[in-house]
Amino acid sequence: ILTAIFLSLLLMWLRRDSTRYARMPPGPTPLPLIGNLLQITGNVPYKHFLKLSETYGPVMTVHLGGLRVVVLVGYEAVQEALVQHADSFAGRPKLPLFVRIASGYGVITSNGDNWKHMRRFSLTTLRNFGMGKHSIEQYIQEEAQHLVEKLCKTKGSPFDPSMSLSQAVANVICSIVFGERFEYDDENFAHLLALITNSLLIFSRPLAQMYNMFPKLFNFLPGPHKAIFGANDELKQFTSTFAEKHRKDLSPDSPQDFIDTFFKKMKQGQQRDNPQNRFNRWRESVLELFVAGTETTSTTLRFGFLILIKYPHIQEKVQKEIDEVIGHQRSPTMADKKKMPYTNAVIHEIQRLADLVPMNLPHATTEDTHFRNYMIPEGTIVLPLLHSVLHDKKLFKSPHSFDPGHFLDETGCFKMNPAFIPFSTGKRVCLGESLAQMELFLFFTTLLQNLSLSSTEDPANLSLLPCASSFLNIPMPYTLLINPR
Ligand code: HEM
Repeated sequence: ILTAIFLSLLLMWLRRDSTRYARMPPGPTPLPLIGNLLQITGNVPYKHFLKLSETYGPVMTVHLGGLRVVVLVGYEAVQEALVQHADSFAGRPKLPLFVRIASGYGVITSNGDNWKHMRRFSLTTLRNFGMGKHSIEQYIQEEAQHLVEKLCKTKGSPFDPSMSLSQAVANVICSIVFGERFEYDDENFAHLLALITNSLLIFSRPLAQMYNMFPKLFNFLPGPHKAIFGANDELKQFTSTFAEKHRKDLSPDSPQDFIDTFFKKMKQGQQRDNPQNRFNRWRESVLELFVAGTETTSTTLRFGFLILIKYPHIQEKVQKEIDEVIGHQRSPTMADKKKMPYTNAVIHEIQRLADLVPMNLPHATTEDTHFRNYMIPEGTIVLPLLHSVLHDKKLFKSPHSFDPGHFLDETGCFKMNPAFIPFSTGKRVCLGESLAQMELFLFFTTLLQNLSLSSTEDPANLSLLPCASSFLNIPMPYTLLINPR
């Protein structure tokens, strides 16, 4: 009798489960345990997704090991999901790597009330910046001058700009968060930044994603995920040391930077020792600003420099516009941007082709969602492929070439393209979008106002293809020659 009861319950559960997933979007038939992994092997998973979508359409279901994932391809599907069904697609999946790193706090990996509060707090604090001694624009302008000085010291010898760009961008975040910057020869700081770079490189490799698919198994095995955890612990230690120093000196009525504002919030309501108080989890929030805000912008700058040495005539045209609008007597400001359509178009095109986060960060449905003719159950992982939007041939004339004309009209005025969404779109759109745009404009213009960049090899041989391409697209390493103008 017990066996019969057990079997009928199992049958009911299986039937319920198959009804729940009966109207999922179509996709390739999964194999037991490994799902469709054999169809998505190799280092560039999104290329396989694009191939599969030729058969299954722009909204399809793919099984990555035991994970059921809905993949969205092209401008229309991504826009419709993230903007028209904004709330339903605004979740983050509880992926084991996310859970291990951030425990559901901070903004990037959190959900529900935690996410809403932390996102609002971070946005407001960044927006109201200027309450301290500096505005964000001033911090970036000063850091751009430090970077020019550092690059001038290379005196025309071949130079890999990766670390200096990371240091410059990280210094902007450090100024905002801790009110401090670090010298370019600070080895400890360089070591921490190398940790972030390496972790993201490892994170970009499909092998690290095996932890998300089979966490119990990989918990006991050595592998790339262990390097990510080690780096995460070391970075938390770094932020803690800084933050504790601040906590001692905090004057609650005049917060000077992001961390002061955080501590002020923590003190309010005297909930300091309450583990339920989300502001007690400041480490996760500060660390994510540091990680999300450094590598993204510096990798885009690195890709941009590569483009500028590959296409010297584009660099010269940008410099001509800088000379006409800004000259050489003062530093570039954000107010110059609208008077510089060509430079603005070049920066947009760099971001489009850099295609920094090709598969976006994974989203999850927050409720059972009717989308087109499908029903996607609550909690399903969703990958809105930003690569497919930034290369949508319906919206970009020559999607695989570098062409600033994608952002210029016939009269040479700047023209926005709705498929320009390197920061994603909808409720989860990048929190640092305006900061990143400010950094890209001010760093590019200040550097090109003062310096000329050229390649150490024949520009025709420089490849724009990424050297790693999964979570982030990472440009090939290169060296350049820097000369004062
Ligand atoms: C999220 C891109 C710079 C902080 C994201 C997402 C993308 C992205 C694609 C995922 C959005 C989604 O899930 O739909 C970029 C690019 C950058 C950049 C291309 C630079 C060129 C920054 C900076 C910061 C930052 C400078 C920090 C100040 C964040 C945070 C999130 C996020 C906190 C999570 C938002 C949420 O889940 O609500 N970014 N980002 N990003 N970014 Fe950025």
